[in-house]
Amino acid sequence: MTKKAIGVFDSGLGGLTILNALRRTLPHENLIYFGDTANVPYGSKSKEAVTRLSLAIGRFLQEQNVKLIVVACNTASAQALGELKKRLAVPVMGVIEPGATKAVGVTKNGHIAVLGTEGTVNSKAYPKALLKKLPNAHIIQQACPLFVPLVEENWTNKPAAELIAREYLLPIQQSRADTVILGCTHYPVLKEVLARILGAQVNLVDSADTLAEAAQVFLRKHHLAQTTGKGRITVYASDAPQRFKRLAQILLADKISTVHLKKLL
Ligand code: DGL
Repeated sequence: MTKKAIGVFDSGLGGLTILNALRRTLPHENLIYFGDTANVPYGSKSKEAVTRLSLAIGRFLQEQNVKLIVVACNTASAQALGELKKRLAVPVMGVIEPGATKAVGVTKNGHIAVLGTEGTVNSKAYPKALLKKLPNAHIIQQACPLFVPLVEENWTNKPAAELIAREYLLPIQQSRADTVILGCTHYPVLKEVLARILGAQVNLVDSADTLAEAAQVFLRKHHLAQTTGKGRITVYASDAPQRFKRLAQILLADKISTVHLKKLL
């Protein structure tokens, strides 16, 4: 049972930031990653479409005999986590809870900003999770849809990235937020640019490490943790695996030799 892999999925490349964190915290675990490159972006899709795609991926991972599924995509976590938990036989963890927990632990003044996709922002999943933990929190949200293609195109160091980020971050700068949740798996890749604009006094929070720690606690508690050997990473993409592999080499700390094509529907 412990040798079974952890399944991780995202709409594309961004979830590799979560895969890196899982790898650091759980180096002995086998990991299977699925990037839904045929259907990215999820952020502008309806809840129904995101749920349908997430369930198809969840079922595929379940067929690979995984012991845990990590929904690395914020949009899918915000919109489909309930359905995934209900319909799959394998335990499922999302990224919203860990991100909210971390933000509440870090904020000093209770003013928290959430950056996410349109789908994540509209679902209000972060405000709901934050207010449960900190009922007096002041929360503002900002959808940043153009960040995803910047990351998928590896344009994060271009001047365009900074120009777009300055525009999106203006309302945050005008607010009292001392903590900003990077509520999309792609955004940590833009951390340097965002930190430069917001300044050192603002905490940037992403769910990756907190989620990896939560996964570790879960595996230990259920006696599912693999404690020896080096875990294997297997990667699937639903379209253009060669392109995915080229870009994945930039984001992923580990080198991967193959990205398998697995069409979804
Ligand atoms: N991975 C998605 C998320 O974390 C963002 C990319 C998309 O829109 O598909 O919300």
